[in-house]
Amino acid sequence: MDTWQPDVYARFAAERRQPFLDLADLVATIPGGRAIDLGCGTGELTRELHVRTGAAETLGLDSSEAMLAKAAPLAGDGLEFERADIAAFAPRAEWDLVFSNAALHWVPDHRALLGRLAAALRTGGQLAFQVPDNFDHPSHRAADRTAAEEPFRSALRGSAHPRHVLAPEAYAAILFRLGFHAPRVELRVYGHRLDSREDVVRWVEGSLLSEYRRALPPELYARFVERYREVLFTMIPDERPYFFTFRRILAYGRR
Ligand SMILES: C[S@@+](CC[C@H](N)C(=O)[O-])C[C@H]1O[C@@H](n2cnc3c(N)ncnc32)[C@H](O)[C@@H]1O
Repeated sequence: MDTWQPDVYARFAAERRQPFLDLADLVATIPGGRAIDLGCGTGELTRELHVRTGAAETLGLDSSEAMLAKAAPLAGDGLEFERADIAAFAPRAEWDLVFSNAALHWVPDHRALLGRLAAALRTGGQLAFQVPDNFDHPSHRAADRTAAEEPFRSALRGSAHPRHVLAPEAYAAILFRLGFHAPRVELRVYGHRLDSREDVVRWVEGSLLSEYRRALPPELYARFVERYREVLFTMIPDERPYFFTFRRILAYGRR
């Protein structure tokens, strides 16, 4: 079931764009080359990547029909979009750049995943990805706590939000072992000035909570969001503006 809602995700487009720009800054241009953007979402940033890198061909890959429907009109001039699961992505030596902004955290087993992404690169190819690492922030812990309460616990059948993201140093070591000469891995804390803590709920509705939306019937999901808000508001102060800190890992290597 496709639970991505492009308009909800786009609420904080400017805030979500900054890590993309920081990641894209690490990438060298690939004039005439081939780039792939895994988990491309609505495609605006894929288009920007395509222009910045000078690639002849860029493919945006995503599993969400709703997100890809927004991306489709942006195709052209060497930019294409395709529906596929990142977990099944396993080409060999086909790409000059494998890029992914805020998507790999949905995919399990990052050791194996990075092995496949490395194998997808041509000689001299670049891998660049950014994953959120905010799991210890109240915005995440409140979801875990809500999911542990009834009636959600039974309805979710114990499936808590899976944590696939590894430590920054683990990514550095894995990339080195995979043949990336000088992997560059950074943990950055982004600070978002939101109008109030209510905006944290609006933010996670566009990302983290999409998983609960998939797992719960609509009426129960609405109750989940309501309860999530109550739990969250016992954990963070009622400040205006509310300063939302968000840890993200940026990783880059050339092979
Ligand atoms: C948080 S959005 C990021 C979109 C875009 N990269 C950006 O930076 O705005 C995550 C995207 O990853 C996609 N996604 C999640 N799991 C996926 C998977 N296993 N295969 C393909 N796409 C996936 C979702 O459909 C969604 O569009």
